[in-house]
Formats: sequence, C-alpha cells, structure tokens
Amino acid sequence: MAERAPAWRIGGVDIADPHFHATEAHHEVWRQARARHPIAWTTSQDYGGFWSITTYELGGQALRRSEELVSARGMRLGGNAASVEAAADRMLVVSDGPAHRRLRSALAQLTSNETLTRYLPDVERRLTTRLAQLIAEDRPIDIVGEFARTFPQWLLFGLMDVPEQDWDRLGRLTDSAFDDEATGAAALASRREANAELFMYVDELVRRRRSAPGDDVVTALAAPAPDGTVLSDDEAVLNCIGLLNGGLETVPHAASGTVLALARYPGEWRKLQRDNGLADRVVEEVLRWTSPAMHVMRTATHDLSLGAAQVRKGDRVVVWLPACNRDSTVFEDGDRFTIGRPPRPHLALGGGPHYCVGAKLARAELVYFLNALLDLVDSVELTGVPRWKRSNFLHGLDSLEVRLVPKRAG
Ligand code: HEM
Repeated sequence: MAERAPAWRIGGVDIADPHFHATEAHHEVWRQARARHPIAWTTSQDYGGFWSITTYELGGQALRRSEELVSARGMRLGGNAASVEAAADRMLVVSDGPAHRRLRSALAQLTSNETLTRYLPDVERRLTTRLAQLIAEDRPIDIVGEFARTFPQWLLFGLMDVPEQDWDRLGRLTDSAFDDEATGAAALASRREANAELFMYVDELVRRRRSAPGDDVVTALAAPAPDGTVLSDDEAVLNCIGLLNGGLETVPHAASGTVLALARYPGEWRKLQRDNGLADRVVEEVLRWTSPAMHVMRTATHDLSLGAAQVRKGDRVVVWLPACNRDSTVFEDGDRFTIGRPPRPHLALGGGPHYCVGAKLARAELVYFLNALLDLVDSVELTGVPRWKRSNFLHGLDSLEVRLVPKRAG
C-alpha cells in the first residue's frame, strides 16, 4: 500500500482494535488526535489501512459528501465482504443515490407523528412498570441486562406487529444474532445460527404481510411504495433486519449511558430534577455524550481532498462519532455531560442522506425513559465498575450495576 499522509501518529494505538474500546482510554486518544491530526491515515492489524476522522467539522463533511464517499461498499470496518455485496443498494444503510432514496421512502412511516402517538404510549406504560418493579426490589441492578437491552424491543416489535408471544424468542435471537463481541468457534457458530433463524422468522413475517397486509412497518416494506415500486422479498427482509439492528443496538447504550451520566454528574441530575421541562434538551446531550454508534465508514469513488488528506479512489474513510461529538472547539469541555449547553447539532445520529431514519423514535423513547427516571428516582448510585463493550462499531456498556434510590412518596 502506498504511503498516505498525514499518518496517525499516536504511538502504539490500534484504534480499530475492539479491545482498545473496552475501557474509556479512547477519549484521551481522541483528544490528542483532534489536536494533532483531525484526519489521518491509520493502519490496523486486522482491518488494514483507512482514514480516521476525529473532529466535528470533518466528520460532518464526510457524511454529507455522499456522492463521492459512498456506503454501498460497506459502512463499517470488518463487514463481511460477501454480505455487503449481497445487501448493497438493497439495504438502506449500504445503499446510495436513487436506490437509497427508493428504500428510504418505504420507511417514511417511521418519521410520522401518527407512528409516535400510536406506539409510544404502550412503550411508556411498559417502561414505567418495569422500572418501578426494579426499584421496588431494592437491590443493585444491572441496568443494561435487566432493563436497557429489552425496552427498545417493545417499540420495534410493536412497530412490526410481531405477536407478543414471540417477543421473548425474537429478543433472544436478535441479542445473539447482533452479538458484535462473539469470538471463538462456538460463539461464532451460535451467532450464525441465530442469524439464520432471525432471517427465517422475518422472511415468514414478510410473506404473511404480503398475503394479509396490516398497518405496520413490515407491511410498509412489503407493500408498493408511494411511487408504485415494490420491494423484493429479500429487500423487505433485509430492511426489517436493518431496523431491528438500528433500533436494538443503539438505544440500550444511550439509555444505560444516561444512567451512568446521572451517577457521575449528580449536580446535572439535580438541575434536571428542578426543571424537568429540560428533558427534551437533555436528550440531545445524552445522545452527544453517549454516542452509541462508534464509527461509520465510507469509500471514496474518486481521488478527493478532505481536510489535510488527499484521499484516493477506493480509500476507506472512517468517522469516529464519539470523538467528533466531544470536539471541544464545538462543544465546550466536550468530555463533560452538561445539561443546558447551547443547542448545537451533534453527529450521534449521523448526517447527510443516511441520517438515522429512526431518530424521531429514538429521541421519543429516551425522553420517556428520562421522564420515568424523574418520576421514580431520587438519585443513582454506582455499585459496580462499568463494563464497556469490546467493539469498534458500537460504543456503550455491557453492564452497569447501580442502585436506583427511589423518590420518597409525597
Ligand atoms: C440512540 C439511538 C440511535 C442511534 C445513536 C443511531 C445512530 C445511527 C447512525 C449514526 C446512523 C447513520 C449510519 C450511516 O451514516 O451509515 C443511523 C442510521 C440508521 N438508523 Fe439509527 N440510531 C438510533 C436509533 C435507531 C432506531 C430506533 C432505528 C429504527 C427504528 C434506527 C434505524 C436506523 C436505520 C435503518 C438507519 C439507516 C438509515 C439510512 O441509511 O438512510 N436507528 N443510525
């Protein structure tokens, strides 16, 4: 591979190594990277060479320049080449241009207010009930395993009109199929099996909706789009899986990260308790500070300049979203969780044409979660050491043991 400059100069760090992200050391590395080389050629033992972007301005630019920095050749490091090729221009997140617009229009329902008002009250009811139960048990709880991992399923399975008796099974399947940390023959085999079963389950769902349309998001994907085009069975299945993946792999990290933030910054929690009208604004700080998507990747269609880099045709460009979102030239003291920052868009939900299609739903879920915490919890105490995910793709907690101290009645 020919030399590329500027090169990543932060000694000994393989930024793509999943193990490197199992602690919070990346924040210090990103601080140095932002100051020294906002875009730099990085080489990784397992992932080869690619450009790394760590600043807000360049990250936003890379996401918006979608005609020259494309997604159809994969949007993450280490993606399986054959699967990417099979899904390219047929699955939203790995499609570009007209193919992307066609698929995205089939999901217009996700951004409608009607969808919010239809599904969210049920999510709110379940969420409050479950949280109240956990608090009543008066013991340390793992907020990830006992709560955050499940609650986004209620919305997604509801949206897809999955029969409630299947929710546990589908929850286990998605947990296992999307397990980013599986290593070793046995774990990889069980992930493959779960994936195959998940595809079969969703395939059956699509077939049922084709013969008996309902009023749900699977029907929206299976039925003709407003412009008359119809998705193939495979496209409908792939995009249902994409929704499950997008919604179930991110919201849990934002929710458990919220709890960590409130435990670490009790003064900010008190601020919120004094004025819970702030919940809508806090959700943006939650998304910025937790940044559950660790990176997104693009591939250059031709030679181009990006910041100080001369990117060549075929080069991969990786935007490290938590690094961009903590850029202190944009978010003062960016590593700190601070309620009441001046409003400023962050990149946690991406940018440009691939901006998260579930953004409205994710925000609403998190506002409900914050409101439930405000109703039920006086303070949050950490009772264990937070365990971070060993992943270069997702940024979040594998477990977080806390005691949620209940509000006193009255
Ligand atoms: C806190 C929660 C969430 C975060 C942090 C998040 C983050 C992101 C990011 C960064 C992207 C851009 C990917 C790229 O540029 O390649 C994205 C796209 C996407 N998200 Fe989300 N997401 C969240 C919630 C959701 C939910 C609830 C759903 C489903 C209901 C969802 C479904 C998707 C899909 C299907 C895409 C692809 C959109 C496209 O390519 O046009 N996400 N998300």
